[in-house]
Amino acid sequence: MIRRHLSVGGGSDRRNHGFKTEKGRLVSLKMASGIQCAFYVFILMNATVLISTSAQVVIAAPVLIGDDCTSPKPPDLSDCTIEHAECIGGKCLCIKDYTSSDGRDKCLPERVYGNCTFQRDCELIGNSFCYSGKCLCDNGYVADDDSKHCIPGKLETTCSGKSDCYKIPHSDCTNSTCTCEADYEPAADNAHCIPEKVDGGCTGNDDCKLVFNSVCNSGKCSCDKDYAAADDSKHCIPDRVYGNCTFQRDCELIGNSICYSGKCSCDNGYVADDGSKHCIPEKVNGECIGNDDCELIGNSVCTSGKCSCDKDYVAANDSKHCIPGDYFSFSIIIVYRSDKRKLHRLR
Ligand SMILES: *[C@@H]1O[C@H](CO)[C@@H](O)[C@H](O)[C@H]1NC(C)=O
Ligand SMILES: *[C@@H]1O[C@H](CO)[C@@H](O)[C@H](O)[C@H]1NC(C)=O
Ligand SMILES: *[C@@H]1O[C@H](CO)[C@@H](O)[C@H](O)[C@H]1NC(C)=O
Ligand SMILES: *[C@@H]1O[C@H](CO)[C@@H](O)[C@H](O)[C@H]1NC(C)=O
Repeated sequence: MIRRHLSVGGGSDRRNHGFKTEKGRLVSLKMASGIQCAFYVFILMNATVLISTSAQVVIAAPVLIGDDCTSPKPPDLSDCTIEHAECIGGKCLCIKDYTSSDGRDKCLPERVYGNCTFQRDCELIGNSFCYSGKCLCDNGYVADDDSKHCIPGKLETTCSGKSDCYKIPHSDCTNSTCTCEADYEPAADNAHCIPEKVDGGCTGNDDCKLVFNSVCNSGKCSCDKDYAAADDSKHCIPDRVYGNCTFQRDCELIGNSICYSGKCSCDNGYVADDGSKHCIPEKVNGECIGNDDCELIGNSVCTSGKCSCDKDYVAANDSKHCIPGDYFSFSIIIVYRSDKRKLHRLR
C-alpha cells in the first residue's frame, strides 16, 4: 500500500495535469495532501538547451489507519481502502476484532480464528499460523481466555513466564518451558499436571490416580474413608486393621501388621485394639508406642518400646498378663532385754 494512485503528467505545459478521468479528478483533489514530485529534463548541447521536458508525478499519500478519510460510501470510492478497515466518523479505522499493525497500513486480526491472508497477518496473536484463511494456534498452543493470543496448551511448550502457562493447571514456566510444579506430574494428555501427594489439586477422580486410595473432593485429592495419608503423603493407606493393602509398607499406620492376602493383618502375638486402628501386643514384651498399647496386658507400661510389667508385677505363665510377683519380707525383731537380773539368772 505504498502508492495508491500514480499519475504522470507529460509535456512541457505544466498547467496541464492530464487528469481527464473520474479517477484523475480524485487524485487531483488529493494533491494538496499528496506527495508531489516534479522532474525537469534538459538535454543540453554546448550549453544550449536542445530539448526540455518535464514530468510531474503525484503519489497520493495512502490513507493509513487513524488518518482522516472521505467518501465513506460506496466502499470502492472510499479512500480508506485497507482491508478490514472502514471510514468511520471521518477516520479510517479497523473494524471490530481487528487492530492496526505497527505501520498502520494493515488491520490485523486480534483474535484467534480471525481472517488472514498471509502468515504475517497473525503476528498479533502469536504462536499461530494462517490456515484456510484463519489464524489458528500452533500445535501445542491454545487460545487464551479472551481468545486474543495463543498460549501453551501442552507441557514442554515454550513460555516466557508463569502467566503463559495458566492453561496448564499446576504448571510453571521453568527453563522457558511449561513444566509441572513440584509434587505434580504430567497427566496422560500432557495438558495438565496431576498431584502425586495427598491434598494436591484435582478436577476429577482421574486426577487422583497417582495418589492411591484417594478421590477428588472439593478440588483436592483426599483419602477415601478408612484410609489416611502415609507418612510421606504420597498415598492413602489403610488406617484400620484389615484395610486393603498391596505392599507391606501400606500397613505402616497400623503397626505390628503384615500385608497378607491383600489385607493388613496383625502380626502373631498382636490383636486389633478397640478402634481397630492399631495392632497391639497381647503379650508382655510386645512392641508398643504408648502405654495405651499395653492395655490388653494389664499392670504393664510401655518402656523402651516394649510392654513391661509394672513394678512388683511379673509376667504370668502365658505372658498375657502381669501378676503380682513373689517378694521377700524381712521382719527384724530386736528384743532389748533390760532385766539384768533375769539375764544374770539366765546365765
Ligand atoms: C472472514 O472470512 C469469512 C469467510 O471468508 C467472511 O464470511 C467474513 O465476513 C470475514 N470476516 C471479516 C471480519 O472480515
Ligand atoms: C534447566 O536446564 C538446565 C540446562 O539445560 C538443566 O541443567 C536443569 O536441570 C534444568 N532445570 C529444570 C528444573 O529442568
Ligand atoms: C478392598 O478391596 C475389596 C476387594 O478388592 C474391595 O471390594 C473393597 O471396596 C476395598 N475396600 C476399600 C475400603 O477400598
Ligand atoms: C503354667 O503353665 C503350665 C502349662 O503351660 C501349667 O501347667 C501351669 O499350671 C501354669 N502355672 C501357673 C502358675 O499358672
